[in-house]
Amino acid sequence: MTKIICFANNKGGSGKSTTCASLAYAFSKAGKKVLLIDGDMQLNLTLSYFSEETALEIASSEKNLYNAIKEQKPLDEFIYNTEYEGVDIIPSSTLMSSVEFELFTKWQREFILKKMLKSVVDKNVYDYVLIDAPPTLGCWVMNILCASDKIILPVEASPWGLFGLANMFEFISQVQELSPNLELLGVVVTKVDARKNYFKQTMETLKSTDGINVFETVIHLDSSVEWAQDNSKPVGSYKKSTRSALEYSALADEILKAY
Ligand SMILES: Nc1ncnc2c1ncn2[C@@H]1O[C@H](COP(=O)(O)OP(=O)(O)OP(=O)(O)O)[C@@H](O)[C@H]1O
Ligand SMILES: [Mg+2]
Repeated sequence: MTKIICFANNKGGSGKSTTCASLAYAFSKAGKKVLLIDGDMQLNLTLSYFSEETALEIASSEKNLYNAIKEQKPLDEFIYNTEYEGVDIIPSSTLMSSVEFELFTKWQREFILKKMLKSVVDKNVYDYVLIDAPPTLGCWVMNILCASDKIILPVEASPWGLFGLANMFEFISQVQELSPNLELLGVVVTKVDARKNYFKQTMETLKSTDGINVFETVIHLDSSVEWAQDNSKPVGSYKKSTRSALEYSALADEILKAY
Protein backbone atom coordinates (compact mmCIF):
# COMPACT_ATOMS: atom_id res chain seq x y z
CA MET A 1 0.00 0.00 0.00
CA THR A 2 1.32 3.42 -0.95
CA LYS A 3 1.65 5.63 2.14
CA ILE A 4 1.11 9.34 1.74
CA ILE A 5 2.92 11.81 4.02
CA CYS A 6 2.80 15.58 3.74
CA PHE A 7 5.19 18.17 5.20
CA ALA A 8 3.24 21.15 6.45
CA ASN A 9 3.62 24.19 8.69
CA ASN A 10 2.21 27.62 7.94
CA LYS A 11 5.37 29.15 9.42
CA GLY A 12 7.65 29.94 6.46
CA GLY A 13 11.22 28.68 6.37
CA SER A 14 10.72 25.93 8.94
CA GLY A 15 12.47 23.28 6.82
CA LYS A 16 9.50 21.64 5.04
CA SER A 17 11.06 21.47 1.57
CA THR A 18 14.54 20.56 2.84
CA THR A 19 13.14 17.77 5.01
CA CYS A 20 10.84 16.45 2.26
CA ALA A 21 13.64 16.40 -0.36
CA SER A 22 16.25 14.92 2.00
CA LEU A 23 13.97 12.19 3.34
CA ALA A 24 13.03 11.10 -0.18
CA TYR A 25 16.69 10.47 -0.93
CA ALA A 26 17.24 8.77 2.44
CA PHE A 27 14.15 6.55 1.92
CA SER A 28 15.41 5.55 -1.54
CA LYS A 29 18.77 4.57 0.00
CA ALA A 30 16.80 2.39 2.41
CA GLY A 31 15.31 0.59 -0.61
CA LYS A 32 11.98 2.42 -0.79
CA LYS A 33 10.40 3.82 -3.94
CA VAL A 34 9.28 7.42 -3.47
CA LEU A 35 7.15 9.87 -5.42
CA LEU A 36 7.65 13.53 -4.48
CA ILE A 37 4.96 16.11 -5.13
CA ASP A 38 5.99 19.77 -5.10
CA GLY A 39 2.92 21.65 -3.88
CA ASP A 40 4.56 25.06 -3.65
CA MET A 41 4.87 27.81 -6.26
CA GLN A 42 8.37 28.53 -4.89
CA LEU A 43 9.51 25.30 -6.66
CA ASN A 44 11.95 24.52 -3.81
CA LEU A 45 11.33 20.77 -3.89
CA THR A 46 11.65 20.70 -7.69
CA LEU A 47 14.90 22.69 -7.40
CA SER A 48 16.27 20.09 -4.99
CA TYR A 49 16.34 17.58 -7.86
CA PHE A 50 16.47 19.68 -11.05
CA SER A 51 18.55 22.67 -12.16
CA GLU A 52 16.91 26.09 -12.20
CA GLU A 53 16.83 25.99 -15.98
CA THR A 54 15.06 22.61 -16.08
CA ALA A 55 12.67 23.55 -13.25
CA LEU A 56 11.60 26.73 -15.07
CA GLU A 57 11.23 24.84 -18.34
CA ILE A 58 8.94 22.31 -16.64
CA ALA A 59 7.08 25.10 -14.82
CA SER A 60 6.14 26.70 -18.13
CA SER A 61 5.37 23.38 -19.87
CA GLU A 62 2.08 21.45 -19.85
CA LYS A 63 3.43 18.69 -17.60
CA ASN A 64 3.40 20.05 -14.06
CA LEU A 65 1.16 20.01 -10.99
CA TYR A 66 -0.66 23.23 -11.86
CA ASN A 67 -1.88 21.93 -15.21
CA ALA A 68 -2.89 18.65 -13.61
CA ILE A 69 -5.07 20.52 -11.09
CA LYS A 70 -6.46 22.92 -13.65
CA GLU A 71 -7.79 20.04 -15.73
CA GLN A 72 -8.23 17.61 -12.81
CA LYS A 73 -6.18 14.95 -14.61
CA PRO A 74 -4.85 11.71 -13.07
CA LEU A 75 -1.46 12.49 -11.52
CA ASP A 76 0.32 9.42 -12.90
CA GLU A 77 0.56 11.29 -16.22
CA PHE A 78 2.66 14.05 -14.62
CA ILE A 79 5.56 12.07 -13.16
CA TYR A 80 9.23 12.77 -13.98
CA ASN A 81 12.16 10.50 -13.13
CA THR A 82 15.04 12.14 -11.27
CA GLU A 83 18.66 11.08 -11.69
CA TYR A 84 18.34 9.08 -8.45
CA GLU A 85 16.94 5.57 -8.59
CA GLY A 86 13.82 5.26 -6.44
CA VAL A 87 12.95 8.97 -6.46
CA ASP A 88 10.40 10.34 -8.94
CA ILE A 89 8.74 13.75 -8.81
CA ILE A 90 5.72 15.75 -9.91
CA PRO A 91 7.18 19.25 -10.25
CA SER A 92 5.38 22.47 -9.44
CA SER A 93 4.84 25.64 -11.44
CA THR A 94 5.01 29.31 -10.54
CA LEU A 95 1.39 29.39 -11.75
CA MET A 96 0.50 27.57 -8.52
CA SER A 97 0.11 31.13 -7.20
CA SER A 98 -3.44 30.94 -8.60
CA VAL A 99 -4.28 27.47 -7.28
CA GLU A 100 -6.77 28.85 -4.71
CA PHE A 101 -8.65 30.53 -7.56
CA GLU A 102 -8.61 27.29 -9.61
CA LEU A 103 -10.02 25.29 -6.70
CA PHE A 104 -12.67 27.81 -5.77
CA THR A 105 -15.12 26.88 -8.51
CA LYS A 106 -14.61 23.12 -8.32
CA TRP A 107 -17.03 20.57 -6.90
CA GLN A 108 -15.84 18.99 -3.59
CA ARG A 109 -12.88 21.29 -3.75
CA GLU A 110 -11.06 19.94 -0.67
CA PHE A 111 -10.68 16.51 -2.30
CA ILE A 112 -9.37 17.39 -5.78
CA LEU A 113 -5.79 16.26 -5.03
CA LYS A 114 -6.97 13.07 -3.33
CA LYS A 115 -9.00 12.12 -6.41
CA MET A 116 -6.11 12.95 -8.75
CA LEU A 117 -3.72 10.84 -6.65
CA LYS A 118 -5.96 7.76 -6.92
CA SER A 119 -4.32 6.83 -10.25
CA VAL A 120 -0.93 6.69 -8.48
CA VAL A 121 -2.18 4.87 -5.37
CA ASP A 122 -4.11 2.26 -7.42
CA LYS A 123 -0.97 1.29 -9.37
CA ASN A 124 0.82 0.64 -6.05
CA VAL A 125 4.25 1.37 -7.56
CA TYR A 126 5.48 3.64 -4.77
CA ASP A 127 6.09 2.84 -1.11
CA TYR A 128 5.74 6.51 -0.18
CA VAL A 129 4.31 9.68 -1.69
CA LEU A 130 5.85 12.75 0.02
CA ILE A 131 4.08 16.08 -0.52
CA ASP A 132 5.69 19.45 0.18
CA ALA A 133 3.10 22.04 1.28
CA PRO A 134 3.48 25.82 0.95
CA PRO A 135 3.50 28.06 4.08
CA THR A 136 -0.24 28.85 3.89
CA LEU A 137 -3.48 27.51 5.40
CA GLY A 138 -6.00 27.76 2.58
CA CYS A 139 -8.02 25.34 0.48
CA TRP A 140 -4.92 24.06 -1.33
CA VAL A 141 -3.15 23.01 1.89
CA MET A 142 -6.48 21.50 2.98
CA ASN A 143 -6.32 19.45 -0.27
CA ILE A 144 -2.78 18.33 0.58
CA LEU A 145 -3.85 17.27 4.09
CA CYS A 146 -7.02 15.53 2.85
CA ALA A 147 -4.92 13.57 0.32
CA SER A 148 -2.45 12.45 3.03
CA ASP A 149 -2.46 9.66 5.61
CA LYS A 150 0.08 11.37 7.88
CA ILE A 151 1.54 14.81 8.48
CA ILE A 152 5.11 15.61 9.47
CA LEU A 153 5.47 19.06 10.94
CA PRO A 154 8.96 20.58 10.72
CA VAL A 155 9.49 23.24 13.40
CA GLU A 156 12.45 25.59 13.42
CA ALA A 157 14.36 25.87 16.70
CA SER A 158 14.09 29.66 16.87
CA PRO A 159 12.29 32.24 19.05
CA TRP A 160 9.42 32.41 16.55
CA GLY A 161 9.49 28.73 15.56
CA LEU A 162 6.67 27.80 17.94
CA PHE A 163 4.64 30.96 17.43
CA GLY A 164 1.49 30.20 15.47
CA LEU A 165 1.77 26.44 15.97
CA ALA A 166 -1.60 26.48 17.75
CA ASN A 167 -3.16 27.73 14.48
CA MET A 168 -1.60 24.81 12.65
CA PHE A 169 -2.97 22.30 15.17
CA GLU A 170 -6.41 23.93 14.94
CA PHE A 171 -6.23 23.69 11.15
CA ILE A 172 -5.30 19.99 11.37
CA SER A 173 -8.31 19.39 13.67
CA GLN A 174 -10.60 21.06 11.13
CA VAL A 175 -9.23 18.91 8.33
CA GLN A 176 -9.66 15.78 10.48
CA GLU A 177 -13.41 16.48 10.49
CA LEU A 178 -13.33 16.02 6.69
CA SER A 179 -10.66 13.33 6.70
CA PRO A 180 -10.91 11.43 10.02
CA ASN A 181 -8.00 9.03 9.32
CA LEU A 182 -5.46 11.85 8.98
CA GLU A 183 -2.85 11.77 11.76
CA LEU A 184 0.12 13.85 12.86
CA LEU A 185 3.04 11.42 12.55
CA GLY A 186 5.37 13.74 14.39
CA VAL A 187 7.15 17.04 14.80
CA VAL A 188 10.74 17.31 13.66
CA VAL A 189 12.90 20.10 15.07
CA THR A 190 15.08 21.66 12.37
CA LYS A 191 17.82 24.25 11.92
CA VAL A 192 19.16 23.68 15.43
CA ASP A 193 22.07 25.94 16.36
CA ALA A 194 23.99 24.19 19.14
CA ARG A 195 25.36 27.56 20.36
CA LYS A 196 21.90 28.90 21.19
CA ASN A 197 19.50 27.82 23.91
CA TYR A 198 16.31 28.02 21.79
CA PHE A 199 16.71 24.36 21.03
CA LYS A 200 16.24 23.31 24.66
CA GLN A 201 13.20 25.59 25.05
CA THR A 202 11.68 24.36 21.77
CA MET A 203 12.11 20.69 22.74
CA GLU A 204 10.75 21.23 26.27
CA THR A 205 7.68 23.07 24.99
CA LEU A 206 6.94 20.50 22.30
CA LYS A 207 7.49 17.50 24.55
CA SER A 208 5.19 18.95 27.19
CA THR A 209 2.37 19.38 24.64
CA ASP A 210 -0.13 16.53 24.99
CA GLY A 211 -0.65 14.15 22.12
CA ILE A 212 2.37 15.19 20.07
CA ASN A 213 5.13 12.84 19.01
CA VAL A 214 8.46 14.65 18.74
CA PHE A 215 11.05 12.77 16.69
CA GLU A 216 14.23 11.96 18.63
CA THR A 217 16.38 12.92 15.67
CA VAL A 218 16.83 16.67 15.28
CA ILE A 219 18.37 18.44 12.31
CA HIS A 220 21.20 20.88 13.04
CA LEU A 221 22.16 23.85 10.93
CA ASP A 222 24.67 22.61 8.39
CA SER A 223 26.27 24.52 5.53
CA SER A 224 26.16 21.37 3.37
CA VAL A 225 22.35 21.84 3.13
CA GLU A 226 22.88 25.12 1.31
CA TRP A 227 25.63 23.56 -0.81
CA ALA A 228 23.28 20.73 -1.84
CA GLN A 229 20.46 23.15 -2.67
CA ASP A 230 22.80 25.42 -4.62
CA ASN A 231 23.79 22.41 -6.72
CA SER A 232 20.22 21.07 -7.14
CA LYS A 233 21.06 17.88 -5.26
CA PRO A 234 19.37 16.21 -2.32
CA VAL A 235 21.26 16.23 0.99
CA GLY A 236 23.31 13.05 1.28
CA SER A 237 23.78 12.46 -2.46
CA TYR A 238 27.23 14.05 -2.57
CA LYS A 239 28.74 13.15 0.79
CA LYS A 240 27.14 10.61 3.08
CA SER A 241 29.12 11.80 6.08
CA THR A 242 27.94 15.41 6.44
CA ARG A 243 26.03 16.15 9.62
CA SER A 244 22.74 16.79 7.81
CA ALA A 245 23.11 13.64 5.68
CA LEU A 246 23.61 11.50 8.79
CA GLU A 247 20.75 13.21 10.62
CA TYR A 248 18.30 12.87 7.72
CA SER A 249 19.29 9.23 7.37
CA ALA A 250 18.61 8.70 11.12
CA LEU A 251 15.28 10.55 10.81
CA ALA A 252 14.35 8.34 7.84
CA ASP A 253 15.07 5.22 9.95
CA GLU A 254 12.90 6.60 12.75
CA ILE A 255 10.02 7.33 10.36
CA LEU A 256 10.31 3.98 8.55
CA LYS A 257 10.05 2.21 11.91
CA ALA A 258 7.03 4.31 12.93
CA TYR A 259 5.13 4.06 9.63
N1 LIG B 1 19.66 22.04 8.38
C1 LIG B 1 19.81 23.20 7.72
N2 LIG B 1 21.00 23.84 7.73
C2 LIG B 1 21.16 25.01 7.08
N3 LIG B 1 20.19 25.64 6.39
C3 LIG B 1 18.99 25.05 6.33
C4 LIG B 1 18.72 23.81 6.99
N4 LIG B 1 17.43 23.47 6.76
C5 LIG B 1 16.91 24.44 5.99
N5 LIG B 1 17.84 25.40 5.74
C6 LIG B 1 17.67 26.63 4.98
O1 LIG B 1 16.57 27.34 5.56
C7 LIG B 1 15.76 27.91 4.55
C8 LIG B 1 14.33 27.41 4.72
O2 LIG B 1 14.29 26.00 4.53
P1 LIG B 1 13.14 25.35 3.66
O3 LIG B 1 13.01 26.03 2.35
O4 LIG B 1 13.35 23.89 3.68
O5 LIG B 1 11.88 25.73 4.58
P2 LIG B 1 10.34 25.71 4.16
O6 LIG B 1 9.58 25.46 5.40
O7 LIG B 1 10.14 24.78 3.04
O8 LIG B 1 10.13 27.19 3.65
P3 LIG B 1 8.78 27.77 2.97
O9 LIG B 1 7.82 27.95 4.09
O10 LIG B 1 9.21 29.05 2.34
O11 LIG B 1 8.31 26.75 1.99
C9 LIG B 1 16.38 27.52 3.21
O12 LIG B 1 17.16 28.62 2.76
C10 LIG B 1 17.28 26.36 3.54
O13 LIG B 1 18.42 26.34 2.74
MG1 LIG C 1 9.16 25.11 1.22
